[in-house]
Amino acid sequence: MRKKIVAGNWKMNENLQEGVALAKEINETLKADKPNCGVIICTPFIHLASVAQVLDRNVVELGAENCADKEKGAYTGEVSAAMVKSTGAQYVILGHSERRQYYHETPEILKEKVQLALANGLKVIFCCGETLDEREANKQNEVVKAELDGSVFNLSAEEWKNIVLAYEPIWAIGTGKTATSDQAEEMLAYIRTIVADKYGKEAAEDTTILYGGSCKPSNAAELFAKPNIDGGLIGGASLKAADFKGIIDAWKK
Ligand code: PGA
Repeated sequence: MRKKIVAGNWKMNENLQEGVALAKEINETLKADKPNCGVIICTPFIHLASVAQVLDRNVVELGAENCADKEKGAYTGEVSAAMVKSTGAQYVILGHSERRQYYHETPEILKEKVQLALANGLKVIFCCGETLDEREANKQNEVVKAELDGSVFNLSAEEWKNIVLAYEPIWAIGTGKTATSDQAEEMLAYIRTIVADKYGKEAAEDTTILYGGSCKPSNAAELFAKPNIDGGLIGGASLKAADFKGIIDAWKK
C-alpha cells in the first residue's frame, strides 16, 4: 500500500524563531492526536537544523525546499544535498514551479538535483504542473509528461522508490483557485499510467502522488477521497498549525 502524505511547503516565510515555534506547535498537536498519514514539513534551509531538534520523527518528518545542482565547492550561496541531509532532513522538494519560473530551473538542472539528492540519501518530492494557458490549450498531460521525462524518468527502479510526485497546476498555487477534485483525480490517474508505462504497474501502484494548489481544510477531504490522490503538498495553509492539522485530519474522514 502506498504511503499517504500531507507535506507542508513553508516557502520564504517565518524567521527562525517563528519557524521553530510553528514546528513545535505542529509536533505537539500531532503527538496529541496521531495522524492517519505521513506528515512532512519542508522549511527554508536556515530552519532545518533547529527544527530537526524539536520534531518527533515518528510523527513529523522534515524536508528542505530545494538543494543545489552541484555536489560541493565554489558555488557561493548554494546549499548542497549533503548539507541538507546533515541537518537531519529526510526529504527535499524539487521542481517546484516557483523554482522553475523565477529561478530558471530547467529539466536538466532538476535532473542533476534529483540525482544528487538521491545519492545523498534524501527522498525527493518532485513537482510538476501546467500553466493556465497550457490547460486552456488542453496541453496539461503533454506538459506534465515532459517534466517527468526530463528530470525523473531516467531513474532506476530502485531510485524510483524514493520519489514522491506532486501535481501542482500553476494556476491553482496560492490563488485560492483549487483544481476540482475531478480535475486533480484525472491528472493523477494519468500520471500513474505513465509511471506504470515506465516502471511497471506495481511500482505505479506504490508511488505516492500528491495534489498541491490552494488545498485547505475545507477542500482536503473531497480531494483525498479520490482513489489516485494520496495526499497534498500544502503552501499557505501549512503556516498555521490548526489549518495544517485540519488538512491532515481529512484522512480520518
Ligand atoms: P498553496 O501552495 O497551497 O499556497 O497554493 C502550494 C505549493 O506551492 O506547494
